[in-house]
Amino acid sequence: MNQIVQVVKNKIREYTAAEIIIVRSPGRINFIGEHTDYNDGFVLPAAINKSVFLAAAKTDSDRIQLVSADMNDSAELKINSIGKTGKLWADYLAGTAAEFQKSGYNIGGFVCVFSGDIPIGAGLSSSAAITCGLAFALNELFALNISAKDLAFIAQKAEHNFAGVNCGIMDQFINLFAEKDKVLKLDCRSLEYNFYPFDFPDIDIILCDSGIRRSLAGSEYNTRRIQCDKGAAAIKEKYPLVKNLRDVDISMLEEFGNILPPDIYSRCLYVVEENERVRQAASFLDDKNISSFGELLAVTHEGLRIDYEVSIPEMDFLVYSALDFQGVIGSRMMGGGFGGCTINLVEKDRSENFIEKMHILYKDKTGSELRSYKCSLESGTSLIK
Ligand code: GLA
Repeated sequence: MNQIVQVVKNKIREYTAAEIIIVRSPGRINFIGEHTDYNDGFVLPAAINKSVFLAAAKTDSDRIQLVSADMNDSAELKINSIGKTGKLWADYLAGTAAEFQKSGYNIGGFVCVFSGDIPIGAGLSSSAAITCGLAFALNELFALNISAKDLAFIAQKAEHNFAGVNCGIMDQFINLFAEKDKVLKLDCRSLEYNFYPFDFPDIDIILCDSGIRRSLAGSEYNTRRIQCDKGAAAIKEKYPLVKNLRDVDISMLEEFGNILPPDIYSRCLYVVEENERVRQAASFLDDKNISSFGELLAVTHEGLRIDYEVSIPEMDFLVYSALDFQGVIGSRMMGGGFGGCTINLVEKDRSENFIEKMHILYKDKTGSELRSYKCSLESGTSLIK
């Protein structure tokens, strides 16, 4: 049995002898469509072979007991007065339970122990894995029959209200809906989605983890979101049908070149172009044209660096070093920005060599160890039998 599963199974026995369930909840990558979800745009994510495992059981008490096996830490809350715990890891879980209640669902006392191998703060959505994992577990434990879409919204609200990050819906949606060996294209307005098989046996997906954590990300993230909304509101004055940047095309935006403040214009430009790139990327997947697909990633990186200003020199270094390497067909920073991982599409027969080279280059440049992860595409959150 998976070692992490064994850890949470053993640990929960310190708290309860009741019947338990085990839930696997994966991290995610995003091929393209960054910072588009909260603009009602399009994204192209997939779940990966890094996960959080949660063991959970109902208890007869009026308490919620939360346990991080990895941090060897715990928090206890009263079910009738769930509030912040002062521990960020526990707040994600407490927040999720609180959102069940706010949505009118009745939950009783429970214990939840979790552990995992998703690097935290690396842009792989470890937080959505925790919130969606618990949402899924509570839905099971208390037989609530909530749809996966609604579980995604509950988990997203936990992030908004307890962690203070005004995130979009991409991470929660892919966490719950992912299918093995497939990429999901999601329309973040209608939540219509379809899958594309990622059927490229000659390509490896390799993440290069800068080790830099997104300390600025929370506030910068929320600022970007406000800037996008300001841009959309200005455009709406002339085009009343515009709700947000999803509804803006490049020629409409260009009319506002001298009207919008330069930073707002740049943010809008990036988002409008990125939505178009997701559409192109999806059609390249349809055509099995992985090299044109890969080329789009580098274009996105430039947009994120110059117009959206969420990259950092270390991520640029990783991307440019990768693009210099023969056999790399695409590379860009991934996730919210200001650190975390780059995503790289690399020809399989050169990928070991690529990893080795990148480790050396990164160490020479920054003095820090690079971590790298080879990804397979996995299914979404599920019960483990
Ligand atoms: C974070 C958020 C997502 C999304 C990405 C950027 O992962 O949680 O909703 O906005 O950043 O694409």
